[in-house]
Amino acid sequence: MIKFSKAVSSLRTSEIRDLMSLATRPDIISFAGGMPGNELFPVEEINRIYNSLPLDIKQTAFQYGPTPGYPPLLEALKEHLRKKGLPVDKNFLMITTGSLQAINILGKVFVDPGDLVVTENPCFIGAISALKSYQAELKGIDLNQDGIDVEKLKNFLQKNKSIPPKFIYLTLNFHNPAGTLYTQERKKELVPILQENDLLLIEDDAYGDLYFDEEAEKRVVPMKALYENELTICYTGSFSKILGPGFRLGWMLVPEEIYKKAELVKQSVDACSPNFTQVLACEFVQSGQIYDYISRMRKIYKRRKDSMADAIRKYFPEEITWNEPRGGFYIWLKLPPQIDIISVLKKTIEQGAVFVVGKTFDPAGLDNSHFRLSYSHTAEDKIERGIQIIGDVLKEELKKK
Ligand SMILES: Cc1ncc(COP(=O)(O)O)c(C=O)c1O
Repeated sequence: MIKFSKAVSSLRTSEIRDLMSLATRPDIISFAGGMPGNELFPVEEINRIYNSLPLDIKQTAFQYGPTPGYPPLLEALKEHLRKKGLPVDKNFLMITTGSLQAINILGKVFVDPGDLVVTENPCFIGAISALKSYQAELKGIDLNQDGIDVEKLKNFLQKNKSIPPKFIYLTLNFHNPAGTLYTQERKKELVPILQENDLLLIEDDAYGDLYFDEEAEKRVVPMKALYENELTICYTGSFSKILGPGFRLGWMLVPEEIYKKAELVKQSVDACSPNFTQVLACEFVQSGQIYDYISRMRKIYKRRKDSMADAIRKYFPEEITWNEPRGGFYIWLKLPPQIDIISVLKKTIEQGAVFVVGKTFDPAGLDNSHFRLSYSHTAEDKIERGIQIIGDVLKEELKKK
């Protein structure tokens, strides 16, 4: 008999994943994936960058690199992070293979089997899987419009004084899947709670650059920039949404003590992140092309969000509630209790549109009352049609009840 580890045995494929595999027909309008549209990638810019590299740098690109990252990229990225007010000089920066690897490494650094970790509910599915792979016990605390529900968080921590969580994992800017942008007040309220409970924060900022308006721009300041002296914060970020997920490049900015452990873990995982894409990303950042690109992307994603929001207002029954995001990739919607979202999903797939059900993002795997729509990789002309399909199915389901 094949004897798998306990950690791997606890990872399950879901009925939803099986359903999603049906949704690969080329004509299907997908609001499922949390990725940029293929047509948005800076292919020409990267082509030019590669062609203009001197031979020795091209050769470096093919080679293994240092575990913490390609040194010129680390320097360029520090400048980028400094602009966000992040304390780059007091901390250590490491390039990772996507920011999911940063979360995974931090999971390995901190979690022993059975350790408690607090997340938001809902929570990014990649983080749920990464943390569960180290056998963390996840406790999801509800999100409301301003961020994590601090009363619920306080109550939970109070009740669990004897078994304190190892850390709390939060996505403060344009949450995946909830779209939430934390208010400054909510961030401030968190400080004494985390201090009193000696709780380390893993701050995931995969979407902070993708704000749609000036007010949102003011609010995306990371907690790591605001509260470096008050809290211990491991900050993670990614090139996936501002260059391309295929580069598989992310980063962590962490205190030295944590960095040293993380470096040992990274050595054992993949020795180094792809040097090839690091060399290209380095030029993209250093030359400032990344800023023109991000500013173009903000406008495109805002237009896609506007199209989706207009279509939802037009085609969805009023009983479906949701908040309009101010950046990022996602709209998170709440269903009335009588609707079975799995049955809605089956029907919309038959009719040519697909989305992700809320259960996927619930650390306890129970939620049946939400779903996520992603507007980031669907062109505007298709968004309205896809939303109409889902809206019609929702209306039919409501009529039946
Ligand atoms: C909140 C959040 N964090 C991290 C990631 C991981 O991104 P990557 O590993 O591609 O950097 C994602 C990807 O969807 C995400 O939504």
